[in-house]
Amino acid sequence: MTEEPQQHWDRVYSDKAPSEVSWFQSEPRPSLAALARFDVPHTTPFVDIGGGPSNLVDALLANGWSDVSVVDIAAPALEAAQARLGEAAAGVHWEIADITRWNPAHRYGGMA
Ligand SMILES: C[S@@+](CC[C@H](N)C(=O)[O-])C[C@H]1O[C@@H](n2cnc3c(N)ncnc32)[C@H](O)[C@@H]1O
Repeated sequence: MTEEPQQHWDRVYSDKAPSEVSWFQSEPRPSLAALARFDVPHTTPFVDIGGGPSNLVDALLANGWSDVSVVDIAAPALEAAQARLGEAAAGVHWEIADITRWNPAHRYGGMA
């Protein structure tokens, strides 16, 4: 039987700690380097799509980004990030969603 994407990713993050997956980075240097190339105010809404338990969100908060969302299909991934961040997690918008069906208007209203 073929696994649905949500089942697959739930299982990945239930079976492994965030640091045990092959794509783990202790510091999100490539993402931060890419972001540094753009002169974007840190009040700009930032959405980490498929962010999982990545510590990019930690770095964004530490750098003063004030409107950060993490969207991921796997609840265990977001729970791991929230547990790591502790109280700081309250300053982030977390959404368990399949990005292929996610409508940003639910969070940001209609786009012109
Ligand atoms: C390779 S992991 C990368 C996670 C994170 N960005 C990082 O660097 O550690 C891919 C992530 O995308 C999420 N994902 C896969 N398909 C998705 C979908 N259709 N909608 C939302 N998230 C999805 C997975 O749950 C997983 O957390």
